[in-house]
Amino acid sequence: MTDAGTKRNAGLPVAIFVTVVLILLIGGVFLLEVFSFSEEAALSSAPDEDIEARAAALLAQGDATRGAVLIETYQCAACHVIGAENNIAPPFAGLADRAEARHPSLSAAAYVYESIVNPAAFIVEGFQNSMVQNFKDRVTDQDLADLMAYLLTQTGS
Ligand code: HEC
Repeated sequence: MTDAGTKRNAGLPVAIFVTVVLILLIGGVFLLEVFSFSEEAALSSAPDEDIEARAAALLAQGDATRGAVLIETYQCAACHVIGAENNIAPPFAGLADRAEARHPSLSAAAYVYESIVNPAAFIVEGFQNSMVQNFKDRVTDQDLADLMAYLLTQTGS
C-alpha cells in the first residue's frame, strides 16, 4: 500500500516537469510566430521608402533626351497629347512643377515613378484610371529612368 503510494507520488513531479517543458515549447513557437509576423509587418509598412530609393536610383541614370523619344515609342502621347490639353489624360507640360504636390508623402521623382508603374495608386482629379496598367512589365529599367528624367524636365505650362 505504502509502496504503491510512493510510486504514484514520484510520478507527479515528472508529469509537472513534462507539462512545463511542453508549455515552454508551445510558448516559444508562439513567440517566434509573433516575432516573425511583426517583422513582415514592418517590411510592408515601408513601401514609400522603397519607392523613394528606387525612383532616386533610376533618375540618377535617366537621360531626358532619350526619354522624349520614348514618349513616342511607348505611345504615351496617344493620351497625353504633347502641347495640348484634353480630358483623356493630364498634360505633361508643367508636370515637374506639380509632381511633388500631387501625392504629399512622395517626392516628385517617386510620384512620377509610381504614376508609370502603378497608375492606380493615385488617380489625378478629373481623370479616370484609364492609363495603361502594365507598363511595369513592358518598360525596361533604363527606359523607365529616361521617361522619368524627361517628365521631370517638363516645367511651365
Ligand atoms: C491609355 C491612355 C494613356 C496612356 C497610353 C498613357 N497614360 Fe499616363 N495617364 C493616363 C491617365 C488617364 C492619367 C490620369 C489618371 C491617373 O492618375 O492614373 C495618367 C497619368 C499619368 C501621369 C501622372 C500625371 C499627373 O499630372 O499627375 C504620368 C506621369 C503619366 N501618366 C505618364 C505616362 C507615361 C510615361 C506613359 C507612356 C509610357 C503614359 N502615361 C501613357 C492615361 C494614359
